[in-house]
Amino acid sequence: MQAAPAPVGGRTVLLIVCGGIAAYKTLELIRLLTGAGLRVRTVLTAAGKQFVTPLSLQALTGEKVYEDLFSLTDENEMGHIALSRSGDLLVVCPATADIMARMAAGLADDLASTLLLATDKPVLIAPAMNVRMWDHPATQANLATLRARGVMVVGPEIGLMACNETGPGRLAEPPVIAEAIFHHLPGPAPVVPATGPLAGRHALVTAGPTHEPIDPVRYLANRSSGRQGYEVAQALAALGARVTLVSGPVDLPPPKGITLRRVETARQMLAACRDALPCDIAVCAAAVADWHVAAEATSKIKKTAGAPPPALTLVPNPDILAELSAPGANRPALVIGFAAETDTVAQHAAAKRLAKGCDWIVANDVRPETGIMGGMENEIVLITGEGAEQWPRMGKQDVATHLADRIATFFTPDFSSGRSIS
Ligand code: CTP
Repeated sequence: MQAAPAPVGGRTVLLIVCGGIAAYKTLELIRLLTGAGLRVRTVLTAAGKQFVTPLSLQALTGEKVYEDLFSLTDENEMGHIALSRSGDLLVVCPATADIMARMAAGLADDLASTLLLATDKPVLIAPAMNVRMWDHPATQANLATLRARGVMVVGPEIGLMACNETGPGRLAEPPVIAEAIFHHLPGPAPVVPATGPLAGRHALVTAGPTHEPIDPVRYLANRSSGRQGYEVAQALAALGARVTLVSGPVDLPPPKGITLRRVETARQMLAACRDALPCDIAVCAAAVADWHVAAEATSKIKKTAGAPPPALTLVPNPDILAELSAPGANRPALVIGFAAETDTVAQHAAAKRLAKGCDWIVANDVRPETGIMGGMENEIVLITGEGAEQWPRMGKQDVATHLADRIATFFTPDFSSGRSIS
């Protein structure tokens, strides 16, 4: 048995391994967590034992594996109440339809469900199951109940499953689950040794809107939530890239393990991007305002009875994407823009790719009825030098994961994450 690595700040993940064909992926997950210096304690359910052995878990964690609610030895060493609180974060992986139902119902008929009921620590689940089981109203109701109680969820992904059906239900990939664990683990982000296909690469990502001041209290803005850019930053970091995220004003928590530069205006965003150079990858997901007010008032503009409203003179903002794409010593090897369009999306975006000089454009349809701008989902056309690819509508996290995979393949042509876009 290998020795347990020294815990980082004493932080421990209590990992509950349930029964499901995807359970084998928890071995890779444990490797990523212990590699980041976290202590991992495992609990194996009776069904989980059909897919992974206690010996493998013990060998990888260097810790005793807990299986039985009524084991005297376990009770002597650590009671189930103490065990439920011994981790800083409880992770259920894979989370089957069965454990989700038992968690939602508050059952405590085995060690896993008892720990989940008794714990006072945050809980993260990584669901994996057949697509019909996932889509079933019972599972969706249980998911809603768990979310409402504060349980955090990573995945599932959309794709081909072991049962040969396609749809949502595949366990998220171990680096994605590890990233979610680092994000939700209380305290500072663990220092993760850069591994993965983008290790050693620096990625610059812009996200969110910009605010262009009119006077000290008013500004011009747009509806961008910043979510897509934040997800791209996270997905690139999950593949090992060092990421600098330059963000306009958004209502999103700072992603862990990523250098965040907050800015307000387009001119500040450009300055922060220049500071971040050199980089290998630039992804401009920000909805940069096209104009700013020529003469920003230094004190609040007051209404004057009977006088016409003030006229605003607008002047163009610098085009950050075009500047990053311009040939030169500091040009990133891969520059990707986003195109928010309301009609003939692919044609406009293809023209924008050429006009701005970037390598790829991620085009999306932002007509209000699509609910994309500010929403959780996206439906994109990826335009590269080779042509246009229509991706199905999916969550912004999935778009980011697939885009990061494509970026990794650009740098390492034989890289394959095993994830398919379907
Ligand atoms: N962009 C940028 N700096 C700007 C404007 C846009 O970096 N001043 C980037 C965006 O981050 C995005 C891409 O350019 O990657 C396309 O932005 P979009 O607003 O869709 O296009 P525009 O260039 O503004 O063209 P139009 O408004 O005419 O569609």
